[in-house]
Amino acid sequence: MRTPVEPSRARPDGSARPRVVFLASPATYRTEAFLRAASRLDLDVVRAIDTPAELHVEAACGAFLPLDFADPDAAAVTLARLSAERPIAALVPLDDSATLLAAHVGAALGMPHNDPDAALAARDKWVMREALRRGGVPTPAYRRFPLSTDPMEIVGEILFPVVVKPTTLSGSRGVIRADDAIELAAAWERARRIVLRESGSPDEGELLVERYLPGIEVALEGLLTGGQLQTLALFDKPDPLEGPFFEETIYVTPSRLPEATRAAISARTGEAAAALGLREGPVHAELRLNDEGVWLIEMAGRSIGGLCSTILEFGAGVSLEELILRHAVERTLPATERIGEAAGVMMIPIPKGGILRGVSGIEAARAVPGVTGVEITAPLNQPVTPLPEGASYLGFIFARASAPEDAEAALRAAHDRLAFRIDPAISLSAV
Ligand SMILES: Nc1ncnc2c1ncn2[C@@H]1O[C@H](COP(=O)(O)OP(=O)(O)O)[C@@H](O)[C@H]1O
Ligand SMILES: [Mg+2]
Repeated sequence: MRTPVEPSRARPDGSARPRVVFLASPATYRTEAFLRAASRLDLDVVRAIDTPAELHVEAACGAFLPLDFADPDAAAVTLARLSAERPIAALVPLDDSATLLAAHVGAALGMPHNDPDAALAARDKWVMREALRRGGVPTPAYRRFPLSTDPMEIVGEILFPVVVKPTTLSGSRGVIRADDAIELAAAWERARRIVLRESGSPDEGELLVERYLPGIEVALEGLLTGGQLQTLALFDKPDPLEGPFFEETIYVTPSRLPEATRAAISARTGEAAAALGLREGPVHAELRLNDEGVWLIEMAGRSIGGLCSTILEFGAGVSLEELILRHAVERTLPATERIGEAAGVMMIPIPKGGILRGVSGIEAARAVPGVTGVEITAPLNQPVTPLPEGASYLGFIFARASAPEDAEAALRAAHDRLAFRIDPAISLSAV
């Protein structure tokens, strides 16, 4: 088998460079940051990319290893062959698409891994709610219904307001709040179409209906070692997330919440990981806080998405990805104090659908004091789709400041300076 690896397999002292396999979907934002970290740690990387089996022959000529993530048995055979050629030190899922596969293949190859059931619980929102409930972790009331359900028939079983959500999508896609029966019917139809488009099968799929939890939201970035959670960063999400769609925008760390509240958030996240059965590797959790306590919205067995990790630094210049890779290869818990000032990132939401024709104000946004970067990731002249159907951002703004509120203000000022020209997509019928 031809394996796409870097030329030198030995370190200057003659020791072998540990081989790690990155597992990711082609659309992930995460590859560059992990490649940079692997290069700093002098690791030998094989990039495995989710590729349908019928495209493997073509893809095998490229710079990556094609694997069909939907077929874990076949993927395990391919990776076993790779490992026989030279042992794999760690399988590293870079995004949600790969966490289940990493657990299955890790189990099949006898490598350190999360339990596949735990990986599934961190991937499927209904399985997650069930595991949390069994583990005694507070969750909002929830019910799961087949996609074919007539929402009018379940109205009597529901206490509004609720959130309708697909069980296996991410990035808030298809997550819609409904305050009454009419909104439920509309939310149901919209979420149903999103799931159908994704699965391609009209007979499959379900939607979760959860009690809407009021409150403020935070995100916790953590690392599990033998089931012990270490909190790497806690982010405030200062923009209200009240629906009907739940657009991620600003994340700022350190959190401005009191110490006791931050401790309660870490404790709740640790309980949730235990309830799900996750024991190793990165976790990204979202929680809501209100008068009734700290609630887990969801936990994923991966690190933070998009380009957000850019703002995190642990020790002198150590990135989140370096921590994750060191943890994966050495199985130890590295020192993980986040250093530096306050930092923030804004995921620039897509305000409307159409074709992105132009972006102006980038230099003015970069010139805002505290702003450390502006990256427009959406390609020009391509369609952009807002939530709840869309799955991407226009780009990212990064900021650093001495206080979290200043980092937040810098992000807002920079965003105000950006202007996006989005023209309506011309439908063929109009031509
Ligand atoms: N039960 C709920 N109550 C209030 N808000 C919710 C609830 N469930 C989801 N949300 C909001 O929707 C966002 C996306 O939902 P989430 O379950 O995290 O799905 P995704 O995997 O798409 O991110 C959350 O970050 C939160 O703001
Ligand atoms: Mg989420």
